[in-house]
Amino acid sequence: MTVPSPSTRLRYSLYIGFALFFASVTLSFLLPTRRWSSSSIAFLQEAVVDEADIRPNAAIVIMISPRRLTETLMALKNIEDRFNRRLKYPYVLLTDSATNISDELSEKVRCITEGRATIAHLPEEMWAVPDWLDQERIRHSLDSIGFSLAYRSMCRFYSGFFWRHPALISYDWLWRLDTDITFHCDVQYDPIRRMIKSGALYGFVQVSGDAIGVQESLARNVSQFLHSRPELLVPDANLAFSWKNVSKALQGQADNDDWTVSVMYNNFEISHRSVWSSPTYQAFFEYLDQQGGFFYERWGDAPVHSYGVSMVLKKDQAIQFSDLGYQHKDWGYECPSQPQCACVKEGPSAGKRFPVFIRQAKRMNIDFNNRGDR
Ligand SMILES: *[C@@H]1O[C@H](CO)[C@@H](O)[C@H](O)[C@H]1NC(C)=O
Ligand SMILES: *[C@@H]1O[C@H](CO)[C@@H](O)[C@H](O)[C@H]1NC(C)=O
Ligand SMILES: *[C@@H]1O[C@H](CO)[C@@H](O)[C@H](O)[C@H]1NC(C)=O
Repeated sequence: MTVPSPSTRLRYSLYIGFALFFASVTLSFLLPTRRWSSSSIAFLQEAVVDEADIRPNAAIVIMISPRRLTETLMALKNIEDRFNRRLKYPYVLLTDSATNISDELSEKVRCITEGRATIAHLPEEMWAVPDWLDQERIRHSLDSIGFSLAYRSMCRFYSGFFWRHPALISYDWLWRLDTDITFHCDVQYDPIRRMIKSGALYGFVQVSGDAIGVQESLARNVSQFLHSRPELLVPDANLAFSWKNVSKALQGQADNDDWTVSVMYNNFEISHRSVWSSPTYQAFFEYLDQQGGFFYERWGDAPVHSYGVSMVLKKDQAIQFSDLGYQHKDWGYECPSQPQCACVKEGPSAGKRFPVFIRQAKRMNIDFNNRGDR
């Protein structure tokens, strides 16, 4: 190693001088940059706060049964994993008043949902069999077509009361789910925001038929309601979703043969409360309830909702989501060809267990054509 010559030393001090100069210039740029970045953090915080402010005022609603507690926890875990740990919607879990929720279960629910769940009882007046009904006729119906009283109470509750439940009354949007469900896809957007953006008030996944035998006189009753309250008809409502011949239905003369039997399965259902609190829907429910068919037959909440939605909404106010990989029980479902879906399309063999269900869903002429995934 040689000792640096004076010229080399000069070069070094020049380098150092330049280095210091650049450092100070850089710093002088950095300082305002830091100020800028701190204000951009503030801006970001504002944006986050704003986003929280404008998060749709929604709750996920699930009815839970004491016989399905593990299933409930698995459903909550699936919902959290697939989207809600990100979207952070609160849950309202409904149980009948006889069910005691153990501390152990509450703690597990709290842990899975990061404390976002409320457990609420179903008030007697929304659940009990009305005492003015003919008990003998109900007993006869239970013996002949099955479906327990609790099941029928559930159908009546969802048909006429859920949006007025004290635990749900403060929410604009109600996202109903069930405990026997699976989302096979990560949901990378907020379905409710998407509905708001496209002006929809009702969101669903599947359309299928329903059993006529357990609700023999529902179609006749709906048709009579339409005929009896012409002042409640909503212009441009999508009545053709429910009726093959709309004018016949409006004349009060339609029967089961005139019903399309198209039903939006509402174990997945996102709705705005204005659908249910509309004068038309409220009067519709009151009319049906007075007839007693929720207990004299098994009038399902899915057909009642579908009839109601087709009465109060226009075609483009209902939206269908088909990119969620949403499955009810072990029934057939649509598996989208997308990488975030933990399912594969298996051709005609997929959903083999319920081929009729799938075929019907495909054959249905869905008039609501506002697709959520477009
Ligand atoms: C629920 O708890 C109450 C009060 O602790 C008790 O009287 C009742 O028997 C319990 N019900 C059930 C179904 O365990
Ligand atoms: C629809 O119903 C009306 C009234 O019942 C009837 O006059 C008309 O022929 C029906 N239309 C069709 C296409 O069946
Ligand atoms: C309406 O439903 C009720 C209850 O099932 C039944 O008693 C009544 O006959 C029905 N009305 C018509 C017009 O079918």
